[in-house]
Amino acid sequence: MTDIAIIGGTGLNTINGLVITHREMVNTPYGQASSPLVYGELCGSKIVFIARHGSGHTIPPHQVNYRANLWALHNIGVKKVIAVAAVGGIRDDMRPGKVVFPDQIIDYTWSRENTFFQDNQHVKHIDFTYPYCEEVRNLLIDGAKSAQLDPVIDGTYGATQGPRLESAAEIKKLENDGCDIVGMTGMPEAALARELDICYATCAVVANWAAGKADDVITMEVIEANLKKGMEKVRLLLSKTLPCL
Ligand code: HPA
Repeated sequence: MTDIAIIGGTGLNTINGLVITHREMVNTPYGQASSPLVYGELCGSKIVFIARHGSGHTIPPHQVNYRANLWALHNIGVKKVIAVAAVGGIRDDMRPGKVVFPDQIIDYTWSRENTFFQDNQHVKHIDFTYPYCEEVRNLLIDGAKSAQLDPVIDGTYGATQGPRLESAAEIKKLENDGCDIVGMTGMPEAALARELDICYATCAVVANWAAGKADDVITMEVIEANLKKGMEKVRLLLSKTLPCL
């Protein structure tokens, strides 16, 4: 039994060093989760891992079944989630390769199943003033600092619909709105976790400068190369953080 889960994003479909005990394919009242739940031990801690985009990275951000993923984790008793996510950097200090722990979010997504509270249920409004769980966020920040990763410890995540990247004007608009990083998977994942009382924090890895922030064309090669480096940092910080959770 474990109460800690890691949701892996682009670049983190599997976790090196995870000693796997078993895998479980899960069907939920909301449909099938993106990938099997992978149970195992990482850095001395029992964890469960799920690949947000599927084991073979085949599910685009707007088609991820966020409700099924969160429900599957909740159903096995998960109380804390570390959500790893690739993002584009908007603010000057959000350089490619940086690890960022956002503390706010703005939702620009649409047409995603974004709540568990529907279908004639009692109306419920969750408090989302502070969308990320400070307990897990702070432990991640401490872990990243002790791994000497020089993390960025604040920032507003702009959640866009994808799957295309943004235009330069869209990024300018997001920047004017106060967004510091941009990604496609932050919502409704964070809100669904809050609806289930799961303590949820994001560990974002900057894969590229957001559109219009650098002269170069944003290619998948650049994104993948930066993510490869960034995900090594994530593994390092997990090794420092997990024993404390
Ligand atoms: N925009 C949105 N999502 C992303 C980006 C981006 O530039 N890079 C990685 N995920």
